[in-house]
Amino acid sequence: MFERHQGSEQVILASIDTGELDYQDSVDELHLLARSAGLSVAGLIEGRRARPDPALFAGSGKVEEIATMVRACDAGLVIFNHALSPAQERNLEQALECRVVDRTTLILDIFASRAKSAEGILQVELAQLAHLSTRLIRGWSHLERQKGGIGLRGPGETQLETDRRLIGKRVKLLKDRLAKLHRQRTVQRRARIRGRVMSVSLVGYTNAGKSTLFNSLTHAQSYVADQLFATLDTTTRQLYLPEVGEIVLSDTVGFITRLPHTLVESFHATLEETIQADLLLHVVDAAGPMRDKHISEVNQVLKEIGAADIPQILIMNKIDLCAIPPGIERDEYGKITAIRLSASTGHGIPALRAALGISRQDYQQPVAATARATVVNNEYHPELD
Ligand code: GTP
Repeated sequence: MFERHQGSEQVILASIDTGELDYQDSVDELHLLARSAGLSVAGLIEGRRARPDPALFAGSGKVEEIATMVRACDAGLVIFNHALSPAQERNLEQALECRVVDRTTLILDIFASRAKSAEGILQVELAQLAHLSTRLIRGWSHLERQKGGIGLRGPGETQLETDRRLIGKRVKLLKDRLAKLHRQRTVQRRARIRGRVMSVSLVGYTNAGKSTLFNSLTHAQSYVADQLFATLDTTTRQLYLPEVGEIVLSDTVGFITRLPHTLVESFHATLEETIQADLLLHVVDAAGPMRDKHISEVNQVLKEIGAADIPQILIMNKIDLCAIPPGIERDEYGKITAIRLSASTGHGIPALRAALGISRQDYQQPVAATARATVVNNEYHPELD
């Protein structure tokens, strides 16, 4: 965890522009990621090259520049805004004489510190193991030392074989536990389908305001913070809204550009909750400069996880920041396409409730109401361990 770097220790960000279109966005996001991890950023060093250097990612002159800043700020960590190979990471650590991590490790670390449910914790560990297994030679050998080595190694095994075997064993255990949780979820979902309860999922880019909207609809306190990935697990509540009847509302993990591949795969199960929804509320920060880009990126991810065909209403959130009036937008056939609201001031929330009531008629018949909100499936089940 990066928590131990909090406080006085300084962190330096390094980013190399290799001509990607979204380069500047990725640098802005790196700042946000570092802030979300609670790090204190001393400075950013940027460079430009046609392609990464195989040994150091950056050129040797740029690495020297970073080294100078590391010494000047007495920094203990350098974060590269890219996926580094294990060899590049090792070479950079030698050249800079401090710890070096890449963007993937930073995101994994934030996920690890935020995961709360059994499923989330297991998935993050799986993703970390996948990342670690590519760095086996240098990264895992500490395990042997920590545990003393006796009895760990099978006959005739090299260190690397032992490490691979240990990781393989752990991965299998984690996958078994996830499968068990998955079965549990499926049973809960079937029960909901039998009850004909409409399920609605909030999706959207990280920091768009999903948790704030979730809270204002459920009056629950799910975690709201001006941080990336404040919500890591799908939080689900069954609630009764007078305009709608009984619905199941889920708050999901925020999307982000260039999510490490290992995480995309391991969070598939979490996002499955999204795929199963009758309706998606796609929340966007209407005041954000990257609004349109984020909308298309989220839609792209939804397509990748097979959720492109689920009906969607765009929620233009944070209208209080950009002086847009609250209201409902419809297409030429009268179908609701977007709702302008502010989740924090509450303006436009009645319009959303009304829209949910109208949408419900398209999906299911109303069912008998119960006024109590119940947590469905986001608690930890120790008996599964
Ligand atoms: P992740 O958990 O990272 O996916 O974020 P999220 O989409 O759940 O966002 P969250 O609800 O945590 O809100 C992020 C920030 O935006 C918080 O600081 C909220 O207070 C703020 N916010 C949310 N809705 C509004 C709004 O309508 N107006 C304003 N001004 N701020 C808002």
